Amino acid sequence: LSDLLQILKIGGSVITDKSKPMSVNLDVINSIASQIAKFKKSNLLIVHGGGSFGHPLAKKYNLANGLKSDKEIISISKTHQAMLDLNNIIIKSFIDKNIPVISLSPIDIFYTSNGRIEKSFLDPIKTSLRLSLIPILFGDTVYDLKKGISILSGDQLVTYLGIKLKAKRIILGTDTDGLFTSDPKHNHGALLIEEIRPDNYKEIVSSFKYDPHDKKIDVTGGMLGKLNELINAAKNGIEIFIINAKYKNNIEKILNNEKVKGTRFTGWNT
Ligand code: IPE
Repeated sequence: LSDLLQILKIGGSVITDKSKPMSVNLDVINSIASQIAKFKKSNLLIVHGGGSFGHPLAKKYNLANGLKSDKEIISISKTHQAMLDLNNIIIKSFIDKNIPVISLSPIDIFYTSNGRIEKSFLDPIKTSLRLSLIPILFGDTVYDLKKGISILSGDQLVTYLGIKLKAKRIILGTDTDGLFTSDPKHNHGALLIEEIRPDNYKEIVSSFKYDPHDKKIDVTGGMLGKLNELINAAKNGIEIFIINAKYKNNIEKILNNEKVKGTRFTGWNT
């Protein structure tokens, strides 16, 4: 069963309005819930990002760089709670559509060391899946063995879980049609990269380095960070797709193994 597991990450820019703190795109959340409601097979795990809930606070308090001695400890409470608030809106939308989801907080499951997952207690995730529940996790504040506190991104989370749970595929739902040569929202000449292979990877990476629009409010590394995480999973034989989660039936289609425009990783597991 576990080799059929699909992991879906819904990016923060899909479900929230990044230009306005603490605001959601409720229509998009409801549409994604409706699409998932139609997906009858189980063995699905969902992770969502922070968008305008987690990122502004994490940035304000500089949480990705750990705990400074007299830093207000309440910044951890506020940031984690903002993520729970966003998670709650999503969970409600899913339960309204009768989808058996269960919210699991990464701060209860993962410890990082200098920002990288060092240990985890995956039993609640495994048991949920076994019961045909759909676990919904999110980018979160987590305790860090070296820095005291850190931010665990949804991208690191899906990669780690994909490998540990032997997922068949990881689907990244973003607010663009995949990965582009530069930010398509600011550059009309941006081209969709349909395949990321070992032989074109370096070129892609250098194009991101110079994108001044990337990483604006993103404390967890923007597109480049995303790419580096996913390559780890691709090397472990997991199929990886980056698609537009805002576009009509894309999520439903990809979960059902239909072709969707986007970026896929090929040739990493040979
Ligand atoms: C960030 O999660 C969570 C916090 C800042 C607390 P992600 O890094 O996965 O979020 P998005 O998808 O980029 O918004």
